[in-house]
Amino acid sequence: MQDKSEIVKKFKQLFNNLKKNNKHYFIEDNPRITDAEYDELKREFFSLENKYPFLKKLNFSKNLIGASPTNKFKKIQHLKPMLSLANAFESKDMKDFLKKVNNFLNIENKSIELFSEPKIDGISATLIYENGILIRGLSRGDGIFGEDILENIKTISTIPKNISNKNPPKLLEVRCEIYIGKKDFINLKNKFANPRNAAGGSLRQKNPKETSKIPLKYFAYGLGAVEPQIFKTQSDFLKKLSNWGFTINQLGKTVSSLEEINKAHKSLDNERSKLNYDIDGIVYKVNDLDLQKRLGNTSNSPRWAIAYKFSAEKVITKIKKIIIQVGRTGAITPVAKVEPVTVGGVVVSNATLHNEDEIQRKDIREGDTIQIQRAGDVIPQVVSVDFTKREKKSEKFKFPLKCLCGAATKKELSKSTKKFDAVRRCIKGYACDYIAIEKLKHLVSKESLNIDGLGKKVIEQFWNLNLVRQPVHIFNLDFKKIEKLEGWGKLSIENLKKAINKSRLISLDKLIYSIGIRHIGQENAKILAGYFGSEEKFRNIFDKEKRNHIIKNLLELDGIGSTQTESINSFFSNKINLKITQDLINELEIKNYISHSGQGILSNKKIMFTGGFSDMSRSEAKMIVENKGGKVLGTISKKLDYLVVGSSKPTIKKINQAKKLEIKVISEKEWIKILNS
Ligand code: IVH
Repeated sequence: MQDKSEIVKKFKQLFNNLKKNNKHYFIEDNPRITDAEYDELKREFFSLENKYPFLKKLNFSKNLIGASPTNKFKKIQHLKPMLSLANAFESKDMKDFLKKVNNFLNIENKSIELFSEPKIDGISATLIYENGILIRGLSRGDGIFGEDILENIKTISTIPKNISNKNPPKLLEVRCEIYIGKKDFINLKNKFANPRNAAGGSLRQKNPKETSKIPLKYFAYGLGAVEPQIFKTQSDFLKKLSNWGFTINQLGKTVSSLEEINKAHKSLDNERSKLNYDIDGIVYKVNDLDLQKRLGNTSNSPRWAIAYKFSAEKVITKIKKIIIQVGRTGAITPVAKVEPVTVGGVVVSNATLHNEDEIQRKDIREGDTIQIQRAGDVIPQVVSVDFTKREKKSEKFKFPLKCLCGAATKKELSKSTKKFDAVRRCIKGYACDYIAIEKLKHLVSKESLNIDGLGKKVIEQFWNLNLVRQPVHIFNLDFKKIEKLEGWGKLSIENLKKAINKSRLISLDKLIYSIGIRHIGQENAKILAGYFGSEEKFRNIFDKEKRNHIIKNLLELDGIGSTQTESINSFFSNKINLKITQDLINELEIKNYISHSGQGILSNKKIMFTGGFSDMSRSEAKMIVENKGGKVLGTISKKLDYLVVGSSKPTIKKINQAKKLEIKVISEKEWIKILNS
């Protein structure tokens, strides 16, 4: 017989190996070994434990989640996208939010009723009821497609499975947050970093029997699809849900002024440690559902809601060194390397210093004792310096004038403000290795090519091994080499191949965003994709002469200004960028851009506004045009179908120009008539 210590050692190894693979599988959703390999590991582990009863005392087996992997969850498209929320961090952000809502709705000096609810720090899910029967349960997924986790959701006893006897709408989608109570989490402490991970791990693991062992709870907070719409307000919706047997959070209430918001925020921040669930802020929602509809969404979040986060935890640490990092747009960001400290449950060893001016203003130096804070998932920031602790020999920080690649950096002069940018930039683009790697990370991110299993860390690994230097390399990876790397097995390689192939099919707007042109975010990419329509037309931008013509046209689009067109021009004037983009496109299959609004009474119509309207802001008017399939242009041109003249201060010159070009000039009243026709 082997000696006892060797048996324990072997047992520990098996345990660690299982635990590691559990994490890859259950938490990261990225298995590195096959199901059979996993089962073999488990079999070895348990047979050893059976053979040597003294191993039981180590309590290892209790620390493993038992389920064996099966196939991934089925992906199902959400009836309505599951968006995220914009954040507010201080009272001023809330003031801005209120102002924006009022501006959009074109209401002045009238307070809008908001519904305030705690923001539960759990895992979001959506429940779909048809004729009162729970028929579907999805995780958020990427917001567009969720995972079918109905069976796991059904194990949560407090979620109603059948409300058909209470006369609910034919179709009812309830959005909710699933969590583990703080008290219940105490028993799970060894397995998960925090209650949120525990809830996610348990909800997204593949054996409902295992899920049922973990005490999951939930709060219903939102309305997804509904047919017929019987609710008037958020508060009315929640009240009905409660009557139908759903659990809603009892701390929800209406508020209607900034004072009330600030008061509610302070008081809940003080009380939150006493709650049995983690919350990280308060969500404020415009209570009236009609107004919510009018406000609509930006690309990622509704205009009618905001999460006012609680103030971040602050801790003291010391700056070991100040280094610079280079972003994908060439921005040089100083970063403080600090002595590791725990903030908000995470160990932090970096804090951002924003830019050169910030370092100057706060006089931040290497060796300084500083206070840092971490709000939400954002990078920790330096709040202040404790000057009393500064050493005598300390010297002012000299901001490097060169990029890490050695090239000179520049501060750009803004044409509109005539001021120099606060940020220094390397202008080498792909020729700078530090920029190139960041561009690659952007390219594979969720909003771009969205390649599962190819995240930032993997890009770094592949970059260092010279496997990926340009976008095109992603599609021609040397899998023979990757196979030999630690952490990569047959299954993970198969998954990566599949994910890469899947990413080849991409819509034009996502492609334009993926390329990573400065000043072209998701919204602008959609506007540009709407202009080009197809890959074929988009390719015209590669040609210098055609580009000049395109740029003139782009300036007519609402939302695109000279900042954007200059950036587009300079991007494609760069030979390396051009080649890289062409190589990338050759690997892809690009779907024509179909605006989601596409069809409607204004389909293909081009409209321009001048002057203000009495009932509606310009932003709302623009949203309506787009929802009905039309486009809003920013300058008068022959392509216009209508110039709509608002009653407040229209520009006479524009009206005259339009008349000359024989464009229909219509009044606000006529405009409303068209909309209602
Ligand atoms: S309303 C945009 N209300 O926060 C959709 N969300 O950052 C409207 N959350 O994915 C969300 N508590 O999982 C809303 N009372 C609450 C919430 C809440 C937690 C989560 C939710 C959402 C995330 C948005």
